[in-house]
Amino acid sequence: MPRDISTETPIRIAVLPVAGLGTRFLPATKAQPKEMLPIVDKPLVQYAVEEVAASGIPMVIFVTGRGKEAIENHFDVSFELEHQLAGRGKEDLRGLVRSIAGLLKVSYVRQQQARGLGDAILTARELVGREPFAVVLSDDVVDADTPCLRQMLAVFARYGRSVVAIQRVDRRRVSNYGIIRGVPVPDRHRNGRVFRIQDMVEKPRPAQAPSNLAIIGRYILTPAIFDELAATATGTGGEVQLTDAMRRLLDREPIYGLEFEGQRYDAGDKLGFLKATVELALKRPDLGAEFRKYLKSLDL
Ligand code: UTP
Repeated sequence: MPRDISTETPIRIAVLPVAGLGTRFLPATKAQPKEMLPIVDKPLVQYAVEEVAASGIPMVIFVTGRGKEAIENHFDVSFELEHQLAGRGKEDLRGLVRSIAGLLKVSYVRQQQARGLGDAILTARELVGREPFAVVLSDDVVDADTPCLRQMLAVFARYGRSVVAIQRVDRRRVSNYGIIRGVPVPDRHRNGRVFRIQDMVEKPRPAQAPSNLAIIGRYILTPAIFDELAATATGTGGEVQLTDAMRRLLDREPIYGLEFEGQRYDAGDKLGFLKATVELALKRPDLGAEFRKYLKSLDL
């Protein structure tokens, strides 16, 4: 076990980068953040924040940018709205609206330009300090009995090193992801689902991919990642890729991959967003039965 990080170190902070341009959802994202698009009636970013809270992490740092004020308002108290709801006797809705503001402690830092996920995380460096932290991308919605992040925290507690969530994907789709090469670690609690990562490649062509194990938008990172992100940023005019920095980190420290249990939806992509909407609506006690009936009635 390295001296600077003990397996006792609790993860206290989750960084949520929400400063991207969301170009795949234009024109919906012209004047509103992609992260506020709702799956049924809850914004993507709230699914992410609820997963953080359900995993026992008490603090969120949002990396925001221009035009993302709606996210700050969403996680703040709205006295006017609460007052109006109370005036109309809608106490349950008032409680719902108020509860969102109480989910977690929240801070904000701004990324000045959308220079990529790596740059967004680097922007949070001063607020995070020298402790391991989680990163959650709200366009990956994970539906799981045990929250995905909580599953990863258990792996971090065991190994004390960075952990990424991984998922097997169709070979033909590997070029949409960061793909790992790894060896399974004997771990009787997780049955071959923990991998020690040997290498990772960003968006490989299927023929060049070392596996079909894809990294999805959940990470636990040691603070050493910040030096690597800074080094990656120097000399690149364009986007700072997190995968490049993690690759450099691999030369210094082990990184583990966890094939998590649960269903992940890529809600940053239109088809993935539609699938998430349909499947999560079907699971809703207030809508599911009627919606299923409707879907069955369609002449497909
Ligand atoms: P994506 O690449 O999926 O989001 O980033 P995007 O760039 O907003 O969307 P498209 O590809 O143009 O449609 C994943 C997450 O990282 C954040 C995004 O807000 C999203 O939540 N991000 C991305 C940043 O915070 N800053 C960036 O520079 C890029």
